[in-house]
Amino acid sequence: MEKIIIEGGVPLKGEVSISGAKNAALPLLFATLLAPGVHRLCNVPALRDIDTAASLLQIMGAGVERDGDCFVINSDRVESLEAPYDLVRTMRASVLVLGPILARLGHARVSLPGGCAIGARPIDLHLKGLEAMGATISLDHGYVEARADRLRGARIYSDLPTVGGTENLMMAATLAQGTTWLENAACEPEILELANALIGMGAQIEGAGTDCIRIEGVEQLRPMDYRVMPDRIEAGTFMIAAAMTKGDVCIRGAVAECNEALISKLREAGVSIEQKGDLLRVRGPETIKSVNIRTRTYPGFPTDMQAQFMALMCLADGTSVISERVFENRFMHVCELQRLGARINIDGHSSTVTGVTQLLGAPVMATDLRASASLILAGLAADKTTEISRIYHLDRGYERIEEKLSALGARIKRVPA
Ligand code: EPZ
Repeated sequence: MEKIIIEGGVPLKGEVSISGAKNAALPLLFATLLAPGVHRLCNVPALRDIDTAASLLQIMGAGVERDGDCFVINSDRVESLEAPYDLVRTMRASVLVLGPILARLGHARVSLPGGCAIGARPIDLHLKGLEAMGATISLDHGYVEARADRLRGARIYSDLPTVGGTENLMMAATLAQGTTWLENAACEPEILELANALIGMGAQIEGAGTDCIRIEGVEQLRPMDYRVMPDRIEAGTFMIAAAMTKGDVCIRGAVAECNEALISKLREAGVSIEQKGDLLRVRGPETIKSVNIRTRTYPGFPTDMQAQFMALMCLADGTSVISERVFENRFMHVCELQRLGARINIDGHSSTVTGVTQLLGAPVMATDLRASASLILAGLAADKTTEISRIYHLDRGYERIEEKLSALGARIKRVPA
């Protein structure tokens, strides 16, 4: 076990490069199961979740090698159809093997993921879509058993625009017989990224990135050769780091057009954000204005930035209301921020944050991935010392974050707990 120690109060300055997107790389890795051959996926971040995905691919029979920031995956011998509980429970995104394996082998057996810190995280909409495509689905002692000689195209309306559900069904539909329409589909940039990679493999997909996606099934796909987009949530996290420390940071790979909701709210809070070529320059204001946010599916304010934005509002001049409308339990960071002197009241899906002039360093505990990030941000702005334990949560989604922050002048280090 390790912990991170921060001596707060240093304005961050300099340039930081954003790593490949975790939430794009994960479905892309599983998409390699759709086609035999040797696939190459580059700009893959070095994260615990990526390691888990690589282990799962190997269990399914694929050969996986890392070559710098690339993965070389040989999926000729994908024979195992089972995604075991001990892997799926550590990373919910493992359910994304369901669509590819069912489409390729006609049979898949995937552990139900169970819940996690931020919510129940059901996959009912994934299963409903696969049934609409002709799969027979049964539950067997904690596992989903799916069978289909060959999936057939269907018109599928999803009750919710689920990111993982859209990804699973889009992958499955690429090899189905006939045409599939995904209606009320998720529009996140990671969906468009997956579609672009699948099209490069020979899939016929139109409308990805909108709420209606049309997929014309084909007989066979060819291996992937793709480079992962930068991580918009890591980029947003560094924007807030600059804002909270009154810093001046240039972010390489910030992909502003994927962060419009966040950038709009940061500008409303008084943060200066300018695009300079492929750099985004972010400068923190003397006074942070209080701003209300409500998380939504894309292009709304991203739920994965809610905890980080709350940390910023803890230092705002005034009161802000933060509503979490995507997940049912995504305020685990509040108790820990209160230990740092934040004034926050939770009322159901909303939290009211009354800004304070100074956060006070203290020992705190990470509870989930984005909560960890909000504690790092608060520690950077707090006085004296902040110690963050259980940082294995952080390592799931941020590549070398303490090195990147140190390079910007932060006094931050990782030590054995
Ligand atoms: C993806 O999770 C992301 N993970 C999450 O990022 C992100 O928070 C989420 O999308 C929303 O943007 C990856 O991409 C690996 P959903 P996913 O299915 O696909 C409900 C992070 O911090 N729902 O869009 O699991 C569900 O309960 C992680 O990087 C159903 O009810 O999210 C939730 O309330 C956290 N039935 C809502 O939809 C279903 O069948 C959104 O879930 C599926 C989902």
